[in-house]
Amino acid sequence: MTRRARTAVLISGRGSNMGALIEAARSPGFSAEIVLVLSDDPGAPGLPLARSWGVAAEAIDFRAYTGKPAFEAALQARLASASVDIVCLAGFMRLLSPSFVERWRGRILNIHPSLLPNLRGLHTHERALAQGFVEHGCTVHLVTAELDAGPILAQARVPVLPGDTADALAARVLREEHRIYPHALDELARSLPDRDDYERSGVAVDG
Ligand code: GRF
Repeated sequence: MTRRARTAVLISGRGSNMGALIEAARSPGFSAEIVLVLSDDPGAPGLPLARSWGVAAEAIDFRAYTGKPAFEAALQARLASASVDIVCLAGFMRLLSPSFVERWRGRILNIHPSLLPNLRGLHTHERALAQGFVEHGCTVHLVTAELDAGPILAQARVPVLPGDTADALAARVLREEHRIYPHALDELARSLPDRDDYERSGVAVDG
Protein backbone atom coordinates (compact mmCIF):
# COMPACT_ATOMS: atom_id res chain seq x y z
CA MET A 1 0.00 0.00 0.00
CA THR A 2 1.43 3.38 -0.90
CA ARG A 3 -0.52 5.26 1.74
CA ARG A 4 -0.67 4.18 5.39
CA ALA A 5 -3.21 1.42 5.98
CA ARG A 6 -6.10 2.54 8.14
CA THR A 7 -6.13 0.11 11.04
CA ALA A 8 -8.63 -0.64 13.80
CA VAL A 9 -7.71 -2.48 16.99
CA LEU A 10 -10.36 -4.62 18.69
CA ILE A 11 -9.91 -5.15 22.41
CA SER A 12 -11.78 -6.45 25.44
CA GLY A 13 -9.39 -5.57 28.27
CA ARG A 14 -6.26 -3.74 29.33
CA GLY A 15 -4.95 -3.09 25.83
CA SER A 16 -1.20 -3.36 26.26
CA ASN A 17 -0.77 -4.76 22.73
CA MET A 18 -3.04 -2.01 21.46
CA GLY A 19 -0.71 0.50 23.15
CA ALA A 20 2.31 -1.10 21.49
CA LEU A 21 0.60 -0.84 18.09
CA ILE A 22 -0.39 2.80 18.65
CA GLU A 23 3.10 3.71 19.77
CA ALA A 24 4.78 1.94 16.87
CA ALA A 25 2.42 3.50 14.35
CA ARG A 26 3.57 6.94 15.45
CA SER A 27 7.05 6.41 14.09
CA PRO A 28 7.77 7.84 10.68
CA GLY A 29 7.85 5.22 7.98
CA PHE A 30 5.41 2.87 9.71
CA SER A 31 3.03 1.59 7.06
CA ALA A 32 -0.18 1.59 9.14
CA GLU A 33 -2.01 4.17 11.24
CA ILE A 34 -4.30 3.29 14.12
CA VAL A 35 -7.50 5.18 13.40
CA LEU A 36 -9.93 3.45 15.75
CA VAL A 37 -10.09 1.26 18.84
CA LEU A 38 -13.28 -0.71 19.52
CA SER A 39 -14.16 -2.77 22.56
CA ASP A 40 -17.07 -5.16 23.09
CA ASP A 41 -16.86 -4.21 26.79
CA PRO A 42 -17.47 -0.56 27.75
CA GLY A 43 -15.42 -1.11 30.93
CA ALA A 44 -12.25 -2.11 29.09
CA PRO A 45 -9.28 -0.19 30.55
CA GLY A 46 -7.82 -0.04 27.05
CA LEU A 47 -10.46 2.48 25.93
CA PRO A 48 -9.29 5.41 28.09
CA LEU A 49 -5.72 4.34 27.41
CA ALA A 50 -6.29 4.69 23.65
CA ARG A 51 -7.89 8.11 24.13
CA SER A 52 -4.89 9.21 26.17
CA TRP A 53 -2.87 8.53 23.02
CA GLY A 54 -5.32 10.64 21.01
CA VAL A 55 -6.93 7.68 19.24
CA ALA A 56 -10.71 7.44 18.83
CA ALA A 57 -11.92 4.66 21.10
CA GLU A 58 -15.49 3.42 21.40
CA ALA A 59 -17.43 0.58 22.95
CA ILE A 60 -19.77 -1.57 20.94
CA ASP A 61 -21.34 -3.25 23.93
CA PHE A 62 -22.07 -6.88 23.11
CA ARG A 63 -24.82 -6.98 25.75
CA ALA A 64 -26.75 -4.22 23.97
CA TYR A 65 -27.39 -6.46 20.94
CA THR A 66 -29.78 -9.35 20.53
CA GLY A 67 -27.10 -11.73 19.35
CA LYS A 68 -23.85 -12.15 17.48
CA PRO A 69 -25.18 -11.21 13.99
CA ALA A 70 -26.53 -7.88 15.27
CA PHE A 71 -23.34 -7.18 17.22
CA GLU A 72 -21.14 -7.99 14.22
CA ALA A 73 -23.31 -5.85 11.94
CA ALA A 74 -22.68 -2.89 14.25
CA LEU A 75 -18.97 -3.68 14.34
CA GLN A 76 -18.82 -3.92 10.56
CA ALA A 77 -20.76 -0.67 10.11
CA ARG A 78 -18.33 1.21 12.36
CA LEU A 79 -15.27 -0.27 10.64
CA ALA A 80 -16.73 0.69 7.27
CA SER A 81 -17.59 4.21 8.36
CA ALA A 82 -13.98 4.68 9.49
CA SER A 83 -12.73 3.30 6.13
CA VAL A 84 -10.67 0.67 7.89
CA ASP A 85 -8.30 -1.46 5.81
CA ILE A 86 -6.90 -3.77 8.51
CA VAL A 87 -8.33 -5.13 11.77
CA CYS A 88 -6.01 -6.16 14.61
CA LEU A 89 -7.45 -8.30 17.38
CA ALA A 90 -5.59 -7.60 20.60
CA GLY A 91 -7.07 -9.44 23.55
CA PHE A 92 -10.51 -9.38 21.90
CA MET A 93 -12.39 -12.12 23.73
CA ARG A 94 -15.22 -12.85 21.29
CA LEU A 95 -15.10 -15.51 18.64
CA LEU A 96 -16.01 -13.86 15.34
CA SER A 97 -18.34 -15.65 12.93
CA PRO A 98 -17.01 -17.26 9.74
CA SER A 99 -18.87 -14.70 7.62
CA PHE A 100 -17.30 -11.75 9.46
CA VAL A 101 -13.85 -13.30 9.21
CA GLU A 102 -14.34 -14.09 5.52
CA ARG A 103 -15.24 -10.49 4.80
CA TRP A 104 -11.87 -9.45 6.25
CA ARG A 105 -9.85 -12.31 4.81
CA GLY A 106 -6.15 -11.49 4.64
CA ARG A 107 -6.73 -8.21 6.49
CA ILE A 108 -7.55 -9.39 10.03
CA LEU A 109 -4.84 -10.51 12.42
CA ASN A 110 -4.53 -11.70 15.98
CA ILE A 111 -1.84 -12.09 18.62
CA HIS A 112 -1.88 -15.33 20.60
CA PRO A 113 0.27 -16.09 23.64
CA SER A 114 1.75 -19.43 22.57
CA LEU A 115 3.87 -20.91 19.83
CA LEU A 116 1.01 -21.99 17.58
CA PRO A 117 0.00 -24.62 16.64
CA ASN A 118 0.77 -25.49 20.28
CA LEU A 119 -1.72 -24.39 22.91
CA ARG A 120 -4.64 -22.90 21.05
CA GLY A 121 -7.31 -21.34 23.27
CA LEU A 122 -7.08 -19.90 26.77
CA HIS A 123 -4.72 -20.21 29.77
CA THR A 124 -1.68 -20.87 27.62
CA HIS A 125 0.93 -19.98 30.27
CA GLU A 126 -0.57 -22.29 32.89
CA ARG A 127 -0.79 -25.07 30.30
CA ALA A 128 2.81 -24.53 29.12
CA LEU A 129 4.00 -24.95 32.72
CA ALA A 130 1.73 -27.92 33.44
CA GLN A 131 2.95 -29.70 30.33
CA GLY A 132 6.60 -29.11 31.20
CA PHE A 133 7.45 -27.00 28.12
CA VAL A 134 11.01 -25.68 28.11
CA GLU A 135 10.14 -23.10 25.47
CA HIS A 136 7.07 -20.91 25.04
CA GLY A 137 6.25 -17.73 23.14
CA CYS A 138 3.74 -15.88 21.05
CA THR A 139 2.36 -15.84 17.52
CA VAL A 140 0.82 -13.26 15.21
CA HIS A 141 -1.45 -14.92 12.68
CA LEU A 142 -4.11 -14.13 10.15
CA VAL A 143 -7.56 -14.88 11.51
CA THR A 144 -9.61 -17.63 9.89
CA ALA A 145 -12.87 -19.24 10.93
CA GLU A 146 -11.02 -21.85 12.99
CA LEU A 147 -9.81 -20.57 16.38
CA ASP A 148 -6.07 -19.70 16.54
CA ALA A 149 -5.39 -21.62 13.33
CA GLY A 150 -4.77 -19.08 10.54
CA PRO A 151 -1.51 -18.59 8.63
CA ILE A 152 1.36 -17.53 10.87
CA LEU A 153 2.94 -14.12 10.21
CA ALA A 154 5.43 -13.90 13.10
CA GLN A 155 6.56 -15.79 16.18
CA ALA A 156 8.87 -15.11 19.10
CA ARG A 157 10.28 -17.68 21.53
CA VAL A 158 11.09 -17.33 25.20
CA PRO A 159 12.59 -19.88 27.60
CA VAL A 160 10.55 -21.37 30.42
CA LEU A 161 12.80 -20.88 33.46
CA PRO A 162 13.05 -23.01 36.59
CA GLY A 163 10.60 -21.78 39.21
CA ASP A 164 8.53 -19.83 36.69
CA THR A 165 5.01 -18.89 37.68
CA ALA A 166 2.31 -18.34 35.06
CA ASP A 167 2.53 -14.60 35.75
CA ALA A 168 6.32 -14.48 35.33
CA LEU A 169 6.08 -16.44 32.11
CA ALA A 170 3.20 -14.28 30.85
CA ALA A 171 5.24 -11.12 31.46
CA ARG A 172 8.20 -12.56 29.52
CA VAL A 173 5.92 -13.51 26.63
CA LEU A 174 4.10 -10.17 26.68
CA ARG A 175 7.34 -8.24 26.10
CA GLU A 176 7.77 -10.25 22.92
CA GLU A 177 4.14 -9.73 21.91
CA HIS A 178 4.70 -5.98 22.05
CA ARG A 179 7.72 -6.37 19.78
CA ILE A 180 6.36 -8.72 17.10
CA TYR A 181 2.79 -7.43 16.72
CA PRO A 182 3.78 -3.99 15.40
CA HIS A 183 6.35 -5.58 13.15
CA ALA A 184 3.77 -8.00 11.66
CA LEU A 185 1.24 -5.20 11.14
CA ASP A 186 3.84 -3.06 9.39
CA GLU A 187 4.73 -5.93 7.06
CA LEU A 188 1.12 -6.81 6.28
CA ALA A 189 0.19 -3.19 5.59
CA ARG A 190 3.16 -2.86 3.25
CA SER A 191 2.09 -5.95 1.33
CA LEU A 192 -1.55 -4.97 0.78
CA PRO A 193 -2.66 -3.65 -2.59
CA ASP A 194 -4.00 -0.12 -2.57
CA ARG A 195 -7.63 0.37 -1.73
CA ASP A 196 -8.29 1.70 -5.23
CA ASP A 197 -6.95 -1.55 -6.64
CA TYR A 198 -9.30 -3.54 -4.41
CA GLU A 199 -12.22 -1.52 -5.63
CA ARG A 200 -11.23 -1.92 -9.26
CA SER A 201 -10.88 -5.69 -8.81
CA GLY A 202 -14.38 -5.84 -7.37
CA VAL A 203 -13.32 -6.98 -3.88
CA ALA A 204 -15.57 -5.33 -1.30
CA VAL A 205 -13.44 -3.22 1.01
CA ASP A 206 -16.17 -1.72 3.11
CA GLY A 207 -18.72 -4.36 3.45
C1 GRF B 1 -2.35 -11.03 25.26
O1 GRF B 1 -1.63 -11.96 25.99
C2 GRF B 1 -2.68 -11.57 23.89
O2 GRF B 1 -1.71 -12.43 23.41
C3 GRF B 1 -3.96 -12.33 24.15
O3 GRF B 1 -4.66 -11.56 25.09
C4 GRF B 1 -3.74 -10.80 25.85
C5 GRF B 1 -4.17 -9.38 25.72
O4 GRF B 1 -3.40 -8.52 26.50
N1 GRF B 1 -4.67 -12.54 22.91
P1 GRF B 1 -3.47 -6.95 26.28
O5 GRF B 1 -4.94 -6.56 26.46
O6 GRF B 1 -2.98 -6.66 24.91
O7 GRF B 1 -2.62 -6.36 27.35
